[in-house]
Amino acid sequence: MTNSNIYLDYASTTPVDPEVLKAMLPYFTEKFGNAESLHSKGLEAKEAIDSARATIAKYLNCQPSEIIFTGSGTESNNLAIIGTAKANRQKGNHLITCDIEHPSVLKVFKYLEKEGFKVTYLPVDKDGFVDPKLLEDAITKDTTLVSIMFANNEIGTIEPIEKIGKICQKHKVLFHTDACQIADYLHLDTKKFQADLITVNGSKIYGPKGIAFLYIRKGTKIEPLLQGGSQEHGLRASTHNVPSIVGIAKAFEIAQSNYKEESIRIEKLRDYLIENLLKEIPDARLNGPHHSRLPNNINIHIPKIEGKDLLLQLDAHGVFVSTGSACNSGKNGSSHVLNAICKNQDISKSSIRISLGKSTKKADLDYVIEILPKIVKQLRS
Ligand SMILES: Cc1ncc(COP(=O)(O)O)c(C=O)c1O
Repeated sequence: MTNSNIYLDYASTTPVDPEVLKAMLPYFTEKFGNAESLHSKGLEAKEAIDSARATIAKYLNCQPSEIIFTGSGTESNNLAIIGTAKANRQKGNHLITCDIEHPSVLKVFKYLEKEGFKVTYLPVDKDGFVDPKLLEDAITKDTTLVSIMFANNEIGTIEPIEKIGKICQKHKVLFHTDACQIADYLHLDTKKFQADLITVNGSKIYGPKGIAFLYIRKGTKIEPLLQGGSQEHGLRASTHNVPSIVGIAKAFEIAQSNYKEESIRIEKLRDYLIENLLKEIPDARLNGPHHSRLPNNINIHIPKIEGKDLLLQLDAHGVFVSTGSACNSGKNGSSHVLNAICKNQDISKSSIRISLGKSTKKADLDYVIEILPKIVKQLRS
């Protein structure tokens, strides 16, 4: 048995920040009103939502009316892609994405292909980068939407979003980016990145799960996924989840206020861990790039072991990591991301993702550096 409790799976989800929880609590009990009700209890809830929207807009450098609250990152991605593809269909039938998107994007494009849309899936290079030149070449007069993730959840690649945004703007094509993994580490300034649609969810930024927002640039033609009430300008019918809306706004405010210091701190820890694991484990290699990588992401290939066995052994030592994404979509549960950057299926099976977060300390990593090479040696023998 072990007394360790070292959580290194922040890319899967984060705990709720105590400040976030404190802000949310009154909205479960005394401030429980429905924001659509006309009485004071309703007004109280509506004011909380308005204030949450204004907070998020301040950091995104946009108008509050450009923010829509949804129930998850998956839902925001679905709304962004299906909603704009269908609403702009008379303009064109061609959409562009890339091979390493999260399943909540990739599977939406597969669905739209069945609905008669033409989709280009851009390849990525060995580190997971989309080539902006390839993207520009793929745009045709029928292209209405490009969706490229800001940062990859498995290998941490930060895509050239500013360049992609400019290309889309130049060709008057809508640009959506799934920014679920990056809001803790970068100022998501809509004026800088020229995205028309941006997805952020609560569960990766120390906010509650089951809440997200979608930034939709003013004037973007988009259809709702749900039919019902007129909440969120008719784009997301359902009674508002007020506690979670208050929570995601607080979490986003904290993330966007502290991203500089946190990125520097976490990046140092990340590089320390990478350097030592590569030194101590024979033949281990880093998956994904050395530069332009999420500050908290480590994904390593350890030949001649099964990632799953390693995960279970680490779990027994009180260290919690992942074999890739919580939602792998490759064949046989292998990672479509690792398969896209390297055709060798063994890499996918023999890799683990370690993702750091707010509570990660150097002592935690020293423990991992001490036990991981020993576990690998044991598994290999
Ligand atoms: C990059 C990315 N996009 C979308 C999602 C889906 O978010 P949610 O679980 O809130 O639907 C995730 C979560 O795993 C993610 O990492």
